[in-house]
Amino acid sequence: MSTPLNSDPRIDQAAVTDESLQSAHDVLLGKQPDEKARYKLLPLNLLFLFSGLIFLAGTYLNRYAGHFDPHIYNENSIPVKGGAVAAVVVDPVVAGKKLFNNAACNTCHMVNGVGQPGAIPPLVGSDWVTGSEERIIRIVLHGLQGPITVNGANYNSAMPPFGRVAGSGFNWSDDKIASVVTYVRQEWGNQAPPVTTAKVTEIRTKDGDRKPWTVDELQKLP
Ligand code: HEC
Repeated sequence: MSTPLNSDPRIDQAAVTDESLQSAHDVLLGKQPDEKARYKLLPLNLLFLFSGLIFLAGTYLNRYAGHFDPHIYNENSIPVKGGAVAAVVVDPVVAGKKLFNNAACNTCHMVNGVGQPGAIPPLVGSDWVTGSEERIIRIVLHGLQGPITVNGANYNSAMPPFGRVAGSGFNWSDDKIASVVTYVRQEWGNQAPPVTTAKVTEIRTKDGDRKPWTVDELQKLP
């Protein structure tokens, strides 16, 4: 057989005889199947293990997940019964304590209400706290400045207004003011009657928008 000129040498190399093709296939067909490459059934013990875990997880969630009721987790959510919204009774002392300690009163008067010597008067045992409810409502709504004597010690500083007053960082509603005032009147051994939201609304309406109070001004009022 003469080799044609310019023939591609790769074609010549690839050429095989029928016999060699046949024997190459014989080799492949004679091989044993590769068992390891096949899928196998999930081992029974693993199946039992995972079934058991899923069962336990289901039992656990059923027992401890509170049936995924939002009210179990969210203390502020409003419980809904039979389509009607039931009234939530929030203890003003509990709500007031939260407000007091949420970077508000506590930053100056301290968590335990003792104030800071020479700078911030105490709320513990103070007549300004346990005395006239109108007076303390006014102080918290519009703030206080100038000299004041509390538990026999003198102070002369300024307390910011917490009511909706222009220029104040605080924008508390009447019920927030009522809660925090009720809280300070009943915490740390203080014993004074609670203050209602209606009373705060009444004072706020009467006083309107005004600058911080002074002790002189407050003493002329009930
Ligand atoms: C930025 C500091 C500051 C914050 C915040 C603050 N106060 Fe005061 N408070 C003062 C100062 C200062 C005085 C005294 C003002 C003066 O010298 O005229 C005062 C006075 C008072 C008084 C009258 C005096 C007394 O000690 O009994 C009451 C009541 C009071 N604060 C309650 C509160 C409540 C309630 C809050 C939170 C809602 C609050 N204060 C937040 C600084 C603060």
